[in-house]
Amino acid sequence: METVFDQQCAVHIGEGCLRAADEIPIRRQGRTCVLVCERHAAPLILPPLMENCPRLSKLPLYYLDASEPGKQIETLLPLWHEWARDGLDRHTSVILVGGGVLCDMGGFAASVYKRGIPFYAIPTTLLAMADASVGGKTAVDLGEIKNILGNFHRSEAVWIDPVFLKTLPRNEFLSGAAEILKMQFIGNPGLSFAELEKCLDPGTFPLSLLHFAIAEKARITGIDFYEENIRKTLNFGHTFGHAFEALALKQNRPIAHGQAVAHGMVCELYLSCLLAGCPKHLFVQTARLINRHYGIFRYGKEDIPELLGYMLNDKKNRNGQIFPVLLQDAGKSLYTESVGTDPLLQTLNTYPFNTDLD
Ligand code: GLY
Repeated sequence: METVFDQQCAVHIGEGCLRAADEIPIRRQGRTCVLVCERHAAPLILPPLMENCPRLSKLPLYYLDASEPGKQIETLLPLWHEWARDGLDRHTSVILVGGGVLCDMGGFAASVYKRGIPFYAIPTTLLAMADASVGGKTAVDLGEIKNILGNFHRSEAVWIDPVFLKTLPRNEFLSGAAEILKMQFIGNPGLSFAELEKCLDPGTFPLSLLHFAIAEKARITGIDFYEENIRKTLNFGHTFGHAFEALALKQNRPIAHGQAVAHGMVCELYLSCLLAGCPKHLFVQTARLINRHYGIFRYGKEDIPELLGYMLNDKKNRNGQIFPVLLQDAGKSLYTESVGTDPLLQTLNTYPFNTDLD
């Protein structure tokens, strides 16, 4: 087991590390703990959890309907009602067990209940392991606007055990893999496309890339928890990605967050070639890789104003200006340059890109 730190939050990673989560102080100095588990994935999640953590299996268990379309504040109301009914007080800690939506929503639920109670995270999807469970961002959507309600509430500790990946559906695997790719693009000047290719196949998935993503995320959020500078780089692929996700949700064809980020990264690499001197081969190789594994995100010309509208509503904007993350090269990101609407429209009008021309 390897442990990295996001300030005082210990992030434990490795096969078998789940057993150590059973040591969470569940009853100490008047403190108690409860579990919150994702409802639809509970049959897959609970058996390995209970087998590895027999003490936790005795805790009160709450379920949350944590799905992408249900990532709304209304979904949290029954949970808060249950907590209040059962007398959870400010000394109660919550243990979140589930994927990225569960971590975002459960963290938000804990962050405002009685003005904030502590929580631990046991992520069970690749997306939650590589991104959502580390760094203390909590969120729910407002209608289709992604993650616009939320705050920063760091967890007490995180246990990331690949045991849960054995039963992960393929689309969820690919969704998480996109965040791992993202970390390679922003954090690894020597990234290898052969490794990225392996990362997109559960049979050859290199755990070393998951470790890298988690360690980088913990390092970055340890330096800049409130996203005033370097943490912004973690939004690579998300300006377009969130717009794609929002459009898909609005059109009743929701796509997984990481799938949207994968398409968003291709668009932001195209933009990086236009505006930041990114080498064309990085864009072309990435576009081919993403097209092969994720296909393309379909939208019509008539959807472009709406996509731009979502970008104009992005949380990262300042004074109405959009700040996508651009790459000068692998491992070299820019996050301080605002981008006008013309290059964004050019990108949206050109997508899906012709990658034969290199
Ligand atoms: N998912 C990006 C961040 O945590 O900052």
